[in-house]
Amino acid sequence: MDIFRGLKAYYWQDKPFLLGSVLGLAAATALGLIYPLLLRRLIDDMIVPGKYDGVLALALLAVGIVVIKAGCQYVHGFCGGRLGNRLAYRLRNGCYSKLQELSFSFYDTARTGDLMSRLTADIEGIRNFIGFGMAQLMNTAFLVLFGFSVMFFLDWQLTLITLSVIPVLGYVAIRFEQQIHPVFRAIRSAVGRLTVSVQENVTGVRTVKSFAREPFEVKKFSGNNEEYREKHLEIAGVWAKYFPVMEFIANFSVALLLLVGGWRVIAGHLTLGDLVAMSSMLAIIVAPLWTLGFQINGYTMSKAAGERLLELLNQPIAVRNSEHCLVLEDGSTGGHLRYDDVHFRYGSRDDQPAALTGFDLDVPPGSVIGLLGGTGSGKSTAVNLLLRAYDVTEGAITLDGVDIRHIELESLRRHMAIVFQESFLFSTTIKENIAYGCPDATMEDIEEAARLAKADDFIRELPQGYETVVGERGMGLSGGQKQRIAIARAFLRKPKVLILDDSTSALDMETEQEIQQSLREVMKGRTTFIIAHRISSLMHADEIVVLDRGHIVQRGRHDKLLRQPGLYRETYKIQFADRPEQLDSYALDSVSVLGRKVTG
Ligand SMILES: Nc1ncnc2c1ncn2[C@@H]1O[C@H](COP(=O)(O)OP(=O)(O)OP(=O)(O)O)[C@@H](O)[C@H]1O
Ligand SMILES: [Mg+2]
Repeated sequence: MDIFRGLKAYYWQDKPFLLGSVLGLAAATALGLIYPLLLRRLIDDMIVPGKYDGVLALALLAVGIVVIKAGCQYVHGFCGGRLGNRLAYRLRNGCYSKLQELSFSFYDTARTGDLMSRLTADIEGIRNFIGFGMAQLMNTAFLVLFGFSVMFFLDWQLTLITLSVIPVLGYVAIRFEQQIHPVFRAIRSAVGRLTVSVQENVTGVRTVKSFAREPFEVKKFSGNNEEYREKHLEIAGVWAKYFPVMEFIANFSVALLLLVGGWRVIAGHLTLGDLVAMSSMLAIIVAPLWTLGFQINGYTMSKAAGERLLELLNQPIAVRNSEHCLVLEDGSTGGHLRYDDVHFRYGSRDDQPAALTGFDLDVPPGSVIGLLGGTGSGKSTAVNLLLRAYDVTEGAITLDGVDIRHIELESLRRHMAIVFQESFLFSTTIKENIAYGCPDATMEDIEEAARLAKADDFIRELPQGYETVVGERGMGLSGGQKQRIAIARAFLRKPKVLILDDSTSALDMETEQEIQQSLREVMKGRTTFIIAHRISSLMHADEIVVLDRGHIVQRGRHDKLLRQPGLYRETYKIQFADRPEQLDSYALDSVSVLGRKVTG
């Protein structure tokens, strides 16, 4: 029941519907139990004494009860349906909002397909149970409670004898639930894995085909599918074992009633009408007991689904606003950033290598910082920390002297724009993609941003221009075109801090140079971080930081770095191999000192 308590927030405000559904059902159940009593009246008061004049009234009463019972059932169905649907609606919204709140670290390990199956199949499971399954389970409980109370009133000894099988039935039902629950949980995960493999296969179809790995993918899918099938077979096995037992126990009580009841009628302890009423009452009670297995099934299935939903809903949020955090007003920040001896490692385990160690950097407002280094050296990590994609493990990052952990996340991120290494486009028009960060931007602003990002020309050549819808993940555009749209999106934002994470890598040198020109124009007085593998992309930076395995190994301006032996000069040598004379003008520092001595 913990699961349903955990989900209470999502259905408790619909208490009236819950109440309507339960009361409607309880009333319908209670009314249904009047029939055996009418039967008793008919036999004992009319048939046996041979007085038929009350039969018509009795029949009319029966019709009246049917009508009221139908009304109660309507109330139950209406309220139950509302309850289930509203719950599912709230849960879907709740899960989706939670997904928006969760930090980058959650998504590092999350699997899309699994999340999708939680938001669809699992919510559906809960909806069915809360809407109807739960009511059926209650119906059974009401029937047992009301039914046996009436029977008790008719003949308590006989009722006690018949009731004796109920604990056995309860025990079997609980055992059944215990066995079937883990299997259902496994089925839910198997559905998740199936969805994951379909989703990954579709997303990565180009890779699959180009490596001719279709047979492998089919095998992988069949493996998951097989597991899914086996789990269902396991369920069928549990069912096959328990169902006959439950049915036997339920019927055994009927046999017991007839045996003992018949004897008591003959002995004169009971009227014939009483026995008929009790046996038909028992038949009404036993009917849903047979389906107790089904009902427990529904309960267990929704419990498993609920567990998975709660797991998502209760997922801790790694990066969140601290209490009394500072809200950055637009235009209020000077934009002075500082990394103060920052250490960072992904995950919480100490044996994981640090992605950044002792990272120190002072970034005055308006400066351009270049980050260079081999792949995996920690460049993306360093800039992601600025957005609080993750919080630093040690040290601090400050903005105008305030630790960014004390600044409200949304307002911090509003002042920044990042173009990620892998550009992502939504499946909507190019115009909306560019305006993503500024929904109120005018068409002129959008076009201007595109012009600055050198995207305007090619967008105009597309059949629908800015209204062209780009497919999922921006399919239908080249890598460089996607990058330029992503850059336009960041430019339009006119951020205080702009981060370009290797975002001109797919562009030719000339376009890149043009974008850099725009950059100087757009980012005047604002701070820019440029991560690049090409020296030409960041040679004009005010400070270039060279990273190697999370450590800063060199820092300074282009010409200073060229004069030092090290990674920067080596990279330059490789990239400008066709222009060795340029390097010659930057003799190593020690040599130039010597040279001055000579000339002096
Ligand atoms: N989300 C993550 N979870 C765990 N480890 C990560 C994650 N992202 C990066 N790393 C690890 O952290 C280190 C630094 O990665 P980072 O992405 O910062 O490198 P980079 O300098 O940007 O490389 P590249 O030039 O290839 O983009 C690498 O060893 C990488 O494997
Ligand atoms: Mg990177």
